Amino acid sequence: EVIDADGLIALPGLVDLHTHLREPGREDAETVMSGSRAAALGGYTAVCAMANTDPVADTAGVVEQVWRLGQAAGLVDVRPVGAVTVGLAGERLAELGAMATSAAAVRIFSDDGHCVSDPRLMRRALEYVKAFDGVIAQHAEEPRLTVGAQLHEGELSGRLGLAGWPAVAEEAIIARDALLAGHVGSRLHICHVSTAGSVEIIRGAKRAGIRITAEVTPHHLLLTDARAESYDPVFKVNPPLRTDTDVAALRAGLAEGVIDAVATDHAPHAVEDKECEWQYARPGMLGLETALSIVMSTKSLSWDGIAERMSRVPARIAGLDGHGRDPAPGVPANLTLVDPAATWVVEPAELASLSRNTPYAGMELPGRVMATFLAGRPTVLDGKATK
Ligand code: DOR
Ligand code: ZN
Ligand code: ZN
Repeated sequence: EVIDADGLIALPGLVDLHTHLREPGREDAETVMSGSRAAALGGYTAVCAMANTDPVADTAGVVEQVWRLGQAAGLVDVRPVGAVTVGLAGERLAELGAMATSAAAVRIFSDDGHCVSDPRLMRRALEYVKAFDGVIAQHAEEPRLTVGAQLHEGELSGRLGLAGWPAVAEEAIIARDALLAGHVGSRLHICHVSTAGSVEIIRGAKRAGIRITAEVTPHHLLLTDARAESYDPVFKVNPPLRTDTDVAALRAGLAEGVIDAVATDHAPHAVEDKECEWQYARPGMLGLETALSIVMSTKSLSWDGIAERMSRVPARIAGLDGHGRDPAPGVPANLTLVDPAATWVVEPAELASLSRNTPYAGMELPGRVMATFLAGRPTVLDGKATK
């Protein structure tokens, strides 16, 4: 079959380091199949499936189950993240080695809230994964500074009388764990960086030779906490939307490479978990189907920068062979074709995700994914999923 790519941009297939697929446990919000379809439509050929499923993905059994569901869906390479469940005495409760050597070949291990509060546990986790060159993905939240937090701690949280999530709750953990990773000599990856101060800490840690990488979400590159004034829970997310100053620093940090990658933190939620009062709504936003367009809309990256920060570098961080490369002759390509001149309007009802919690409803966005190829086979053609 011949595809007319006149006027289109060819990118190496996008790689998402941070996707919540909700299976097993919340198949009403997303399944591996529906999330894979959303990913392919967004131009992705690989996604790292986060471990906060039910049951938590901390055994070889669960990660192999998710990996097999991804293979069966056949639209995107689903790479499970393992949870580092560490006991309070420091004992290893998760099957780290078994997850690494399983069919799912787990390389990224997420703290998923289990060890953020205790540096002894984080040190143990870093030591465990060093043996097989794994990486700890750290959500960077000091929970004792975010008790009851509803949005960014700032002028708006004060005016609304809501408990705020201060920038320092993120920055304190990044600084602490960068030092721990340097001490242990392990790799550390910082999830969804959201503050200007975090960018500066990561810059300093890299200069000091610490093996640290970081990601930023599309929503933290575009939106600010001013959106919370509407009390529309679609804007509730962890970490919270921040300020204009933070957005500018995140864009600059990404362009410079201090922040290594864009990752969606695609967080589908069922209607009843979002269409309620702000305080009771679950945090999180959809991201897979809009990520590339949102990044384009910020005008912070060139096309090569997009290939680098949304494909090549995340592929390297996740240890994914075959992804993040420019197609070479004879090698089945993971690639995506984008129409840079097209625009589209986000209609929540038309998204492939089972959930509807996009903060971009009704917005006209630049750039349309026209085709995606996984190992040479089309998963999206003419802007539509092939299954
Ligand atoms: O807003 C968020 N939602 N942030 C996270 O880190 C987790 C995610 C979720 O699982 O819904
Ligand atoms: Zn998180
Ligand atoms: Zn997340």
